[in-house]
Amino acid sequence: MIKKETDRLIIRNFIPSDWKDLYEYLSLDDVLKYEPVGACDVEECRRFALERSKGNNFWAVILRDEEKMIGHVYFNQIEPYEFMTWEIGYIFNPKFYGNGYATEACRGILQYGFNELKIHRVIALCNPENIASWRLMERLNMRREAYHKKKAFFHKTEEGEPLWHDAYQYAILEEELNDFSS
Ligand SMILES: CC(C)(COP(=O)(O)OP(=O)(O)OC[C@H]1O[C@@H](n2cnc3c(N)ncnc32)[C@H](O)[C@@H]1OP(=O)(O)O)[C@@H](O)C(=O)NCCC(=O)NCCS
Repeated sequence: MIKKETDRLIIRNFIPSDWKDLYEYLSLDDVLKYEPVGACDVEECRRFALERSKGNNFWAVILRDEEKMIGHVYFNQIEPYEFMTWEIGYIFNPKFYGNGYATEACRGILQYGFNELKIHRVIALCNPENIASWRLMERLNMRREAYHKKKAFFHKTEEGEPLWHDAYQYAILEEELNDFSS
């Protein structure tokens, strides 16, 4: 079990019983507006929590004082592995937006990645319309380094045509960690 602590949060591997807190926000369409999947039901949340508890790619973010899971962060190495590059992503419960918890959790994970895993680079992608997401990346001192036109699609029209969306790419390098820590 990996477990990290920040001022207000505990960041740890998923455990199967996290499904209840996961359901509280993954059942909301608005939260998943920019994700490939739509609102999830109880069974899907049970499955997600169980699957995620078996690996290290998804981190549950727990509010220390309430022992409540308030969101999760995806942190996964991408190929080629010798480039030591990870991708970060995040989804939080809207009840807890606006407190800096997502920033604190991602910062803790970046520190763990750069200081303990000795990684080289972290990237993140988001739809330019998802302002809360790229503002978070900028709070983390990540640099906007690309604007991909029609990068991907998650949905299709009734006629089967892809609904392409643009994407910003942000990144932070090992040597930028000090800037971001200050
Ligand atoms: C992306 C997401 C995690 C951002 O949530 P958030 O609450 O805006 O981010 P934080 O928890 O870091 O909080 C930052 C806000 O809290 C405020 N804040 C309060 N105390 C703070 C503190 N101690 N530190 C930092 N910010 C603080 C900031 O000013 C900011 O508010 P503002 O946006 O009005 O300026 C959230 O919108 C989300 O889960 N969206 C749905 C899923 C999603 O789209 N994921 C990304 C896919 S690419």
